[in-house]
Amino acid sequence: MSQHELFPHLMSPLSIGQHQIANRIVFTGHDTCLPEDGMVNDALIAYLEQRARYGTGLIVLQVSGVDETARYTSHLLMANDDRCIPGYRRLAQACQQHGSVVFAQLFHPGREIMESADGLKPVAYSASSVPQERFRVMPRALTRQRIQDIIASFAAAARRMHTAGIQGVEILASHGYLPAQFLSPLVNQRDDEYGGSFINRVRFVEQIIDAIRAETGTQLAIGLRISCDERDEQGMGSDEAIATLQHLQDKLDYASIVAGTSASLGGSVHIVPPMIYDAAYLGDESRQLRTGLQLPIILTGRINQPHEAEHVIRSGAADMCGMTRALICDPAMPTKARHGDSDGIRACIGCNQACIGHFHRGLPISCIQYPESGRELRYRNIGISATPQRIAVLGGGPAGMKAAVTASTRGHQVTLFEASPRLGGQANLAQLLPGRSEFGGLVTNLIEELKRSEVEIVTQRRESPPTLLEKGFDHVLVATGASAYHPPVERMGELPISQATQLLGSQPLPGGHIVVYDTQGDWIGVGIAELLARQGARVTLAVNGLHAGEALQSYVRDSTAARLHNLGIQVKTYARVFGVDDDSVYLYHTAGGEPMVIDSVDHLVLACGGSPSVSTQDEAQWSGLPITMIGDCLVPRSAEEAIYDGLKAAMAL
Ligand SMILES: Cc1cc2nc3c(=O)[nH]c(=O)nc-3n(C[C@H](O)[C@H](O)[C@H](O)COP(=O)(O)O)c2cc1C
Ligand code: SF4
Repeated sequence: MSQHELFPHLMSPLSIGQHQIANRIVFTGHDTCLPEDGMVNDALIAYLEQRARYGTGLIVLQVSGVDETARYTSHLLMANDDRCIPGYRRLAQACQQHGSVVFAQLFHPGREIMESADGLKPVAYSASSVPQERFRVMPRALTRQRIQDIIASFAAAARRMHTAGIQGVEILASHGYLPAQFLSPLVNQRDDEYGGSFINRVRFVEQIIDAIRAETGTQLAIGLRISCDERDEQGMGSDEAIATLQHLQDKLDYASIVAGTSASLGGSVHIVPPMIYDAAYLGDESRQLRTGLQLPIILTGRINQPHEAEHVIRSGAADMCGMTRALICDPAMPTKARHGDSDGIRACIGCNQACIGHFHRGLPISCIQYPESGRELRYRNIGISATPQRIAVLGGGPAGMKAAVTASTRGHQVTLFEASPRLGGQANLAQLLPGRSEFGGLVTNLIEELKRSEVEIVTQRRESPPTLLEKGFDHVLVATGASAYHPPVERMGELPISQATQLLGSQPLPGGHIVVYDTQGDWIGVGIAELLARQGARVTLAVNGLHAGEALQSYVRDSTAARLHNLGIQVKTYARVFGVDDDSVYLYHTAGGEPMVIDSVDHLVLACGGSPSVSTQDEAQWSGLPITMIGDCLVPRSAEEAIYDGLKAAMAL
């Protein structure tokens, strides 16, 4: 079947301004933390070029700060100085040579300042001095002169992009950033020509567009990114978005639709919506919003697969689809879609762990399923090993599967042994938790890669590494995982105690009043608490930390916190369990050392992580043998580390 029969809408070309785009797939702007010193570098070019190479129609570069006061993080890419032009030029050419069109985001965050290079709070500016609750920022209102300066800095940044050969610029009025702060009747309390009426509030962004046009002419496409709804009681709804687009449409070449705001915990979840949100969940809102608009519309938000994107465009919800995490996770997605190889697409699972999760920790972008992402300079070419070997991989969890696929790709002869009947390991359990079913996609994707490789798979067989070496394998990769850790809990009675991982998938689940003790702050503690509460149990979640789900990426954590709250789950913080009797759980407050008691308890459930399955004694016996341990058997960590361990070990063979 030809590409046009498969995804006729997605694969058809579209013009934005004076630029023809080969298909409707957009890699929307996303901060990668790859640039250094605010400049485009080889890592960023390699990352974006990889998406261009496989046929992404439109690549929108990550936010570029237009002014010194735009530094919302310490690693922001900057466009406030002509020295940036050569870098953008190299980047544009690298992507354009593969046929992609390249736009850039022009950015001022206003009061949305997350952190700074020296760790001190900078002076933030906004339309008015209205505090930002998420980062706890009280901004200073911009003077009229500074407003003019910032408008001029948008135009100057656009001129630099144009000079560098970038084909369009996108102004961020989305997610509560400075233009949105002017648009918002709550944040903008000015009484000059930039505040009050809608016409006054829209003036700032309108003057930015006019200034860019005056500086660059009509060749440079101009787009506006805007939230169709900020998803916050104090944020803007669809009325403001519709009014803004209708007012500005004659001056724009396109609009890019998202949801949410950076200003609040609940609103920020929609900046990178986690797996709890349905595929293409903004489709209906986008369809309504665009009524009466003549502009090409890009819609973004959990559009992960070509068939979903095809539906979005066919149904009239948008003209193009942002498929950002889909492309972070699988840069070759457009080519695979074009060739009808949907099964071969490594679908993003919306876990948020290594993409936006890395961003929030100031780390270079990656993907838990595809650690090569963001590390293109090192892993772009996997290459064939100079010394092909017979490799045994012991354990078919994420680490073992990734190692096996990679080693096979490198030309080794690989056999994967899994003791259970099923591949997937711990990742199979994650998908059983509420709202986590998509996590199983990680296993499905790796199994698909295994199927397409030359790896021999042997299940239900236990082997020991030395025996495998005796059988003629040259190297054994041990990926046998972890077992559940049982913390020291003094028993002064018969209160039933279970491991969370043991309860998952078992029926019936315990009822009554259950204490879930979570020392990890990951998805297991909050997930089992939610699962038990949904089945009718009264749940107290005792966490050895500041709050529930402390180790989760913040958008995953905050959407989970909302569900825990709605289910009436009590959260006890700073808690360390030290004992149980027949119906009570005894804890210490880990900051103060004071004892705490939870009474009338029917069951204690432990979510306390794992212990490595390979002992130090085993390891000592293997010393000197060609054996490498990877994943949780080495030290229990998350799927991200397991898969990356697998990649690194296979690359070292
Ligand atoms: C790591 C990361 C950084 C992001 N930074 C930006 C940004 O700089 N500008 C922006 O408009 N959106 C940013 N976003 C949001 C994306 O453009 C996109 O709207 C979001 O990922 C949802 O789309 P998806 O479901 O296709 O991934 C970021 C997303 C991620 C994952
Ligand atoms: S880390 Fe998770 S959410 Fe991010 S791109 Fe990879 S699979 Fe998708």
